[in-house]
Amino acid sequence: MKTLDGKVALITGSGRGIGRAIALKLASHGARVVVNDLDRQPADDVVAEIQAAGGDAVACVGSVTATDFAERFIKTAVDHYQGIDIIVNNAGYTWDNVIQKMSDEQWYAMLDCHLTAPFRILRAAQPVLRALSKAEAEAGREVYRKVVNISSIAGLGGNAGQANYAVAKAGITGMTKTLAKEWGRMKVNVNTVAYGFIRTRLTEATAGASASVEIEGREIKVGISPELVKIMDAQIPLGRGGTPEEAAGAVYLFCLPESNYISGQTLVCGGGFTLG
Ligand SMILES: NC(=O)c1ccc[n+]([C@@H]2O[C@H](COP(=O)([O-])OP(=O)(O)OC[C@H]3O[C@@H](n4cnc5c(N)ncnc54)[C@H](O)[C@@H]3O)[C@@H](O)[C@H]2O)c1
Repeated sequence: MKTLDGKVALITGSGRGIGRAIALKLASHGARVVVNDLDRQPADDVVAEIQAAGGDAVACVGSVTATDFAERFIKTAVDHYQGIDIIVNNAGYTWDNVIQKMSDEQWYAMLDCHLTAPFRILRAAQPVLRALSKAEAEAGREVYRKVVNISSIAGLGGNAGQANYAVAKAGITGMTKTLAKEWGRMKVNVNTVAYGFIRTRLTEATAGASASVEIEGREIKVGISPELVKIMDAQIPLGRGGTPEEAAGAVYLFCLPESNYISGQTLVCGGGFTLG
């Protein structure tokens, strides 16, 4: 018997990086996974990887910012797996600038992706969670479900050049605390994991010309210089950035039955490093 046997987990942005590691981790512990990503190929690859390991997964490709995404995402879980047990709001990226150079487009892009998208997903999930918890309460069963919202130490302590991102990531902790209060009676634990410096394509060392990726038709700069990586590593008490697998471990803790009486909390996963 695995710890998450039969659980249905929906994870946004799980084609790469931390989201991918969360999908593989939860699947390895028995969860059936709805894999989402903006890009089809990485999402399909993660589904194939889970299936090759004997697990169960389905892809729901598309941007979390699309107005019809939340309903489609929830419907994919219900159609394929007849339920929802875990929702991880992970999809995201950074689009930095100091405030005097930050456009409205940059500002709203971060709020749309990191704040409005989780809001819509959780709103769309509510009727399903309500129906499940009502049926279980009537049957005298107490079943706990889990929401894990992904934030950043930038949202807790602020970070120069990230007013848009820090505000969105601070906002998601407000959503966590509010839904912990609204959804306690449905036995849903709602928590946040705030990451420090985790090594993914967002933060990988890029020597020379900086790298960029295309996100929703925009060219977004990713990666940081090797010199800055060294400086950041030196500031982290555990001496280095975290791996996506270590990052996934923090989400896993909130998915376990051992965390059933923990709700509305933020867990910092940053090797001891904090901002602010
Ligand atoms: N890497 C870090 O150091 C770090 C630190 C703090 C917080 N985070 C947060 O962790 C989360 C994952 O970041 P990561 O480092 O794994 O990045 P990543 O770029 O490696 O992976 C993110 C994935 O999300 C997808 N994605 C981006 N926008 C999307 C959208 N609109 N709809 C659907 N999918 C989308 C990307 O295609 C990508 O596959 C993000 O919310 C990020 O802000 C990361």
